[in-house]
This record gives sequence, C-alpha cells and structure tokens, in this order.
Amino acid sequence: MIHIQVEDTDGSKRSLEIEENPSTSLMEVLTEEDFDVPAICGGMAGCGTCHIQVRKGLEKLPQPDDDEEFMLDSLPNLTPQSRLSCQLKLTPALDGLDVKILGDGVS
Ligand code: FES
Repeated sequence: MIHIQVEDTDGSKRSLEIEENPSTSLMEVLTEEDFDVPAICGGMAGCGTCHIQVRKGLEKLPQPDDDEEFMLDSLPNLTPQSRLSCQLKLTPALDGLDVKILGDGVS
C-alpha cells in the first residue's frame, strides 16, 4: 500500500491509503477522492491543473519527462518541488509522500 498526505487548495488535509497500480496516476486518485484537481486535459500533461508541490519524498520520484517539464515551466506558481500528479504512477516510490495541491494551470 501507498500512504500519502494531501493538502487541498482550501488548506484541508487528508491521509490516503492507496493500492499500488502502475497503470493509474496520482491525479486519478485525487479526482476520485474529490480534491480540487480539475484535470481538464485528462492526464496528458497539457493543462497544469493537477499541479502539486511535493513537500516530502521528492527525491524518490522518477525525473519528469520533457512534456511534464514544459508544462511545469509555464505555470505561474511553479516551485522547486513542483510536479504534475497526472505523470506520477502509483508505484512504491510514492509511499510516504506529502503533497500540496497547487493547481492554477489553464482552466
Ligand atoms: S491533468 Fe492536465 S496536466 Fe495533469
């Protein structure tokens, strides 16, 4: 199981326990759990509305690919810990993550 702490855009915090599944993204879990993640591009790294700040565990994650880097660079609230949750698969690397939803992409 993967354990993640998530802070929503309104400041509310929840702990999630998620089954590992490399064909599912963290964005899909966040939308299912009704967090403020519109994900209007459907997970194609094209909207930035699934933008998160990884406050703990960033070093364990795979490096962003070119498409993710390009989208992140266009976001007004980019941080050094920014990632797109649609590009993070539910693998053991996510266990112990502490993330804050930033959103603010094209909406
Ligand atoms: S859902 Fe659009 S960039 Fe992630």
